[in-house]
Amino acid sequence: MQDADLVEDAFLYCEGGRIAAFGPMHEMPPDLAAQATERVDCTGRVVLPGYVDSHTHLVFAATREAEYVQRLQGATYEQIAAAGGGILNSARRTAAATENELLAGARQRLWEVIRLGTTAIEIKSGYGLSFDGELKLLRVAQQLKAESPIPVRVTYLAAHALPMEYRERRQDYIRLICHEWIPAVAAEKLADYVDVFCEHGFFTPDETVEILAAGATHGLAGRVHANELAYSGGVQAAVRAGACSADHLECVGPEELRALAGSAVVPTLLPGTAFFLGIAYAPARMMIDAGLGIALASDYNPGTCPTGNMNLVVATACAQMKMLPAEALCAATLNAAHALQWGSDMGSIAVGKVANFLVTNPLSSYTCIPYHFGHSTVQQVWVGGKRLV
Ligand code: NIG
Ligand code: FE
Repeated sequence: MQDADLVEDAFLYCEGGRIAAFGPMHEMPPDLAAQATERVDCTGRVVLPGYVDSHTHLVFAATREAEYVQRLQGATYEQIAAAGGGILNSARRTAAATENELLAGARQRLWEVIRLGTTAIEIKSGYGLSFDGELKLLRVAQQLKAESPIPVRVTYLAAHALPMEYRERRQDYIRLICHEWIPAVAAEKLADYVDVFCEHGFFTPDETVEILAAGATHGLAGRVHANELAYSGGVQAAVRAGACSADHLECVGPEELRALAGSAVVPTLLPGTAFFLGIAYAPARMMIDAGLGIALASDYNPGTCPTGNMNLVVATACAQMKMLPAEALCAATLNAAHALQWGSDMGSIAVGKVANFLVTNPLSSYTCIPYHFGHSTVQQVWVGGKRLV
């Protein structure tokens, strides 16, 4: 992760939407220069792989700034959730919105993050909390996948919060998810993954494993929201269930590190959430120094991270978690691509991979990308060899 593998004074040659060659300019084969149909002069600029945002809740109905102000006045995220706010608040707003309204909002957010350099994205449902509600969100996500110029993976966040009416009979809710909803979502091919919010006050590690096992039975690989607010056992549940990723990980100690070390679960950190909630950041240094290949993602959602700006995510990872710029960029591109099982096709500048890359403004070094925190140095966004921005 520390090796940025920089090529100074480089060329990059794309063909058929893929990277066909790259290297130092003086090594560029003369026939490539002759046959190129389009040329872009990138003098003084940095060309880097496009961001892969492997964790977003892009489809939602309304912002939650009132809860933000409540938290500034001392209420905690868990207190707001226990009183019927938080995810349940978003669920009510989502239920009242039409599919077209949800699509329009999500489409706008998708283009907003593309302009900031996101070239592949994961989108979760999760604000439906009922079968019909979740189907509505999944259909919106599928519509985005169909029309989006960037690749999209869709996740069925089946267990996000327990609806009020199930508070006394949670086993019934888990049974519904496992035996009715997951089979139906999988049969209609509405999702690629299934996800669970494994947290105190939400879902337990055993419930998480049960739901991920049901997903696996129906061809949906797993992801887990783990250890955001407490040592919830979510990391161990993700490892036990063979999930593709365990996301958040603010509360991680030696036991969690041991569990992750021997597994294929990609530990995914979401520093935008820690920033916005004002909680301690995930111990990124400790994880990297323990040999873990961590990913970075945004968690774009109306409650805990109302931004999908990956430049800010990378900058926060550096300034607050002491990740080096090369580590943060690797985490936000190649490792995040691996978290979405896209690692062999995206996430780095390599011959044969899809030509998804960014061209920055003129910069004296790639380390200026996180240095200019709160700004985007991204000037051009190329996806599949075509310029989108
Ligand atoms: O990733 N943790 C669960 N989901 C979101 C928060 C959702 C919300 O508050 O609306 C998260 O932080
Ligand atoms: Fe999330």
